[in-house]
This record gives sequence, structure tokens and C-alpha cells, in this order.
Amino acid sequence: MSKTILITGGAGFIGSHVVRLFVNKYPQYTIVNGDALTYAGNLENLTDVQQAPNYIFEKIDITNEKGMDELVSKWAFDAVIHLAAESHVDRSIVDPLAFVRTNVLGTAVLLNTCRKHWGGDYAGKLFYHVSTDEVYGSLGEEGFFTETTPYDPRSPYSASKASSDHFVMAYYHTYHMPVVMSNCSNNYGSHHFPEKLIPLMINNIKNSRPLPVYGKGENVRDWLWVEDHARAIDTIFHKGVAGEKYNIGGFNEWKNIDLVHLLCNIMDRKLDREPGTSARLIEYVKDRAGHDLRYAIDATKINRELGWNPSLQFEEGLEKTVDWYLNNEGWVEDVTSGNYQKYYEDQYVRR
Ligand code: NAD
Ligand code: DAU
Repeated sequence: MSKTILITGGAGFIGSHVVRLFVNKYPQYTIVNGDALTYAGNLENLTDVQQAPNYIFEKIDITNEKGMDELVSKWAFDAVIHLAAESHVDRSIVDPLAFVRTNVLGTAVLLNTCRKHWGGDYAGKLFYHVSTDEVYGSLGEEGFFTETTPYDPRSPYSASKASSDHFVMAYYHTYHMPVVMSNCSNNYGSHHFPEKLIPLMINNIKNSRPLPVYGKGENVRDWLWVEDHARAIDTIFHKGVAGEKYNIGGFNEWKNIDLVHLLCNIMDRKLDREPGTSARLIEYVKDRAGHDLRYAIDATKINRELGWNPSLQFEEGLEKTVDWYLNNEGWVEDVTSGNYQKYYEDQYVRR
């Protein structure tokens, strides 16, 4: 069946993997990537699909009510997969209102625009909201987040994502809009912006720069291969039940300091350095304010009800990730220098 789908944030890390999967796997779908191209959005992430006949890029800010209205009028979307967000916790501590604008207001504008255009006739329609495990707060040494864990966000980022989740469920209950939502753990893989832990460490190890570990490095995260997240989104989009939420995770918990040591070992081997060379770059620095201790997702529901499972072992995924960064040094240079903004101009404005 043909469909026209808006994927917001499709030029970002996870969004670009979701766009690639949908464009390649579903030639009968028209995939419209709607993205504002903030510092985190990069069309170079999608050069392999940009010529595909079922792929379209639209530069759009989801907080712009008029622009969203025009976009939805133009394309008459059957479905939205909403990933656009400000996504970095440290930035949310510096500038919380940017997170309120995009994550809360932007999500509400998107929901309201769909409500207006779908006009209560929701046959064949779906609003899929991509959220995070951080809305559940911080775990102690034991336990997991399930879909019924009460929300307890503790950073401006997670508070803004929690608020957007509530708006999505409000549109389900109040207007009967068909929605699904997923809350995923930490992703890793290619095209990850080097402000986040894994790509930042890979980049700094490569350049023999200090490796800043927050606090004592005891915080725990549950890491999932980004392509497994994209597969989970595909599964939920096609098989999920409206009004339901699904947790996605890798059952793969790592203390930050252990993960950094593992990366150091992999990089020493790949860069032909003496074992132990990169680990000497580790520096314990001031902790993140309000730093959540531990996240761990119970992904039983999506496995039991929809048959999804993570496909890749972490060590194998990390090796692939390191290889990607070592083979794509130009990408890292571009995203850290702002050259990709020029790519957009060349690709879309001047021609
Ligand atoms: P990202 O920061 O790499 O990408 C975000 C994208 O959204 C960028 O392309 C950016 O240009 C776009 N964007 C930002 N503001 C916009 C606006 N106002 N209008 C239109 N586009 C805008 O983020 P990511 O890591 O790929 O995360 C994608 C989604 O997945 C987010 O909603 C995030 O909360 C969620 N998530 C991320 C992770 C993770 O580990 N990265 C885990 C779980 C959930
Ligand atoms: O859990 C899902 C979330 O994972 C997503 O919703 C967020 O969008 C995504 O950014 C990520 O949030 P984290 O805060 O967990 O990711 P980050 O890579 O920023 O940090 C991972 C851990 O590493 C965290 O405990 C903080 C620590 N850290 C991070 C950086 C950037 C360091 O010790 N040093 C660093 O330089």
C-alpha cells in the first residue's frame, strides 16, 4: 500500500538511519524528511538515498505553525514519525528554553497541525512519537524501566521529552488521534554527533586529546545499535497498537568508565598504539549537574508482542562504529567545523 510519511529530524543521527531504512525497504512509500538543519542535522548523512525517487527533503522548523500547516497541506501525510528534537542533555543545562521550544512547543504544533488536517478522520493515519528512557528518571543499582514506570524526568532535556510524551497521549485521549510512542535507551553507531559520549571519545582518542569522564565514571547506560533502533521503529510503525507505548533497549548496561576503557583498547589496536596508551588520556572532570545514575530498559513488551530483538552484540557494534569514524574523518571535520551548512547551500539553495 502506498503512503506518504513525514519523518521529522531525518537529518539527525537516529532520524537518518530511519529515513534510510524506510526509503530502501519501502519503495511504495514517499518519505518526506522534514528537518530544520540545526547544528545536529546534516544532509551528508543521507547522500546515499538523496537521489531515490521516493525521498524528498523539506527544510522546516516544527515550531513554525504556518510553515507546518503549509507542509501538511502540500503533502497530505498519512503518517508522521517524529524524531526532531534538541537531544543533548549538557546543552539543555546551558539553554533549557531551546528544549522547551523544539521538544514541547514543536511537538504540540506538529500534533495540532495533524489534528487540523486529518479533521477527525483518522482512517489509515498514525502519529508515531520517538521518545527516550530518560523520562523515567534515574535507577539505583537494581531494577528496570518498564512501560508503566512513573515519569520522573530530572534534566531540562528529559523534562521537555516527558512533556512532549504527555501531549501525545493527550491527543490520543482527547481527540482520538491514533498515536504510538517508543522510549529507547542510549543509541550508538555511525553518524552520531561528536558531542555525545561514544563519538566524542573516539574522536579525542584519535587526536590524543584528553578523555573527559564526568564524576567518577560510575554512571550506567544501556547501549543499543542505532540500526536496531531503526528496525524497532519500523516494527512498531507497522505492528504497534494505537495508544500503546513500547520500551526499546539492548539489555546491555555499561558503566561509563568501563566503556571508555573498552574504546581505548579497541582504538589502541586499530591505531597500532602500545596497549594502555589511550587510557592514559582519561581525565576525571566535574560531574554533569543532576547526573542520572543509571538507565536500564526492560524491552520485554516489544519482544513479546511485536517480535523485535536487538541483532548485534555490543563489542561487534563498537568495532563497526570505530571503523566508521576512522574511515569517515571528513564527516567529523565537517560537522565540527560547520562545513555541512555549506553542503546544504550547495545542494539545495544555489542550484
Ligand atoms: P539529533 O540531535 O542527532 O538530531 C535531531 C534532529 O532534529 C536534527 O536533524 C535537527 O536538525 C532536527 N531538529 C532539531 N530541532 C528542530 C526543529 N525545531 N524543527 C525541525 N527539526 C529540528 O538527535 P538523535 O540523537 O538522532 O535523536 C532523535 C530522537 O530520538 C530525539 O527525539 C531524541 O529525543 C530521541 N532519542 C535519542 C536517543 C539517543 O541515544 N540519541 C535515545 C532515545 C531517544
Ligand atoms: O538514554 C537515552 C538518551 O541517551 C537520549 O535520550 C539522549 O538524546 C542522548 O543524548 C543520550 O543521553 P545521555 O546523557 O545518556 O548521553 P551522553 O552521550 O551525553 O552521555 C552518556 C554518559 O556519558 C552520561 O552518563 C554522561 C557521560 N559523559 C558524557 C560526555 C559527553 C561523560 O562522562 N563525558 C562526556 O564528555
